[in-house]
Amino acid sequence: MEVKATYVPVSLESIEPLIFPDVALFIKTGGNFVLYKNHGRDFSEHDRERLARNGVEFVFVSNEEMDVITSHMEASAERMLKSDLLDAKAKGKMIYQTSINFVDDMFNNPDKSTDLDRTKRLVENLMLYLSNSPDAIKSLESVMSHNYHTFVHSLQVASLTLLMHSEAYTLSRDEMLDVGAGAIFHDFGKIFVPQEILNKSGKLNDAEIQVLKRHPEEGYQFLQKKSVLSPVALSIIRMHHERCNGSGYPLGLQSRDIPRSAQVAGVVDVYCTLTSDNSGNKTMPPHIAVQLMRNQMKELFAPNLMNTLEKLVCTEDVQQFIL
Ligand SMILES: [Fe+2]
Repeated sequence: MEVKATYVPVSLESIEPLIFPDVALFIKTGGNFVLYKNHGRDFSEHDRERLARNGVEFVFVSNEEMDVITSHMEASAERMLKSDLLDAKAKGKMIYQTSINFVDDMFNNPDKSTDLDRTKRLVENLMLYLSNSPDAIKSLESVMSHNYHTFVHSLQVASLTLLMHSEAYTLSRDEMLDVGAGAIFHDFGKIFVPQEILNKSGKLNDAEIQVLKRHPEEGYQFLQKKSVLSPVALSIIRMHHERCNGSGYPLGLQSRDIPRSAQVAGVVDVYCTLTSDNSGNKTMPPHIAVQLMRNQMKELFAPNLMNTLEKLVCTEDVQQFIL
C-alpha cells in the first residue's frame, strides 16, 4: 500500500527526451519499483524506444519530485497537444498527467486551487484535446481507468460536460472555460466530508448521507468567498445535484430554476458514476446507463440533455459491440 502512495505514473509518450526535468525514474517489475535512471543522466530517445519495445507504458517518479514534473508538463502541454507526432491516446495520457497533480492539489490544498490561471490553462488544454481528437473521449477513458479517484471523476465530468455544451449550445471560449472550471470543481465540497464517510465501503446511514449531501453548498460557500470563479462555474458546484422534478439538493429547485450548465453537469455526473466504479472499472455499458437514466430516473433530467448524452456516448462502435 505504501509503495502506491510513493510513486506516481508518468506515461512514456509524455516524456520528451533531453528536455525532460532531471528526476529519478523508476520502472515497475513484478510489483516492485526499480530505479531506471538516477539524477544527472539524461533520458534519451534510445531509453524511450527500449522501454517501449519491452512493453513499458508508464515510468514512475517519486511523489516528492512530482511538482517539478507537473510544472514542466503544464508548460509544454499546449505544444504537445498540437503536435502531429502524438496520437489521441498519447495526448489523452498527457492530459491525464497534467491534470493529476492539479486536481489532487485542489482536494488536498484548497488555497492553491484558487489559482485561476492554472485552472484556465488546464481547461484550455482539455478543450484543445477534445476538439482535435475525434476519439478523444474513448482515449481519455482508457487512460483514466489506470488510476481512478475523485480527481479522475472530476476530469471525466469536466470532459463530458464540455462536449455536451459544444454539442448542444453555441458558447464563447470564455463561457466554455467557465463551464469547464465549474465541472472540474463540482465536487470540491467533498474536502469538507470526513474520509470515513467518503471511503466507507458499505451503505451510508441517514446521518452520514446528510453530511455527504452538504458538499455542493459547502463547496459553493468556500469558493464563492475566494471570488475567482464565475457565477456559471459556481452554479455548477452548488446545483449539480438539483433535479428537474425538485427532488434534488441542496435547494430542491425545479428545472426552470436550475441553470442550464448545472443541469448538464448533473446529467454527466450521474452517467459517469453509473459507468465506472471507484477503481475506474467499467461497471455498465454506455447504452445501458442511458437507458436506465431514461427509464428509472425519467423525471430527473431534461429530455433534450438525455438526447445529447446518448448521441455522444452511444457511438456506432458501441452498437457494433453489442450486436
Ligand atoms: Fe457531487
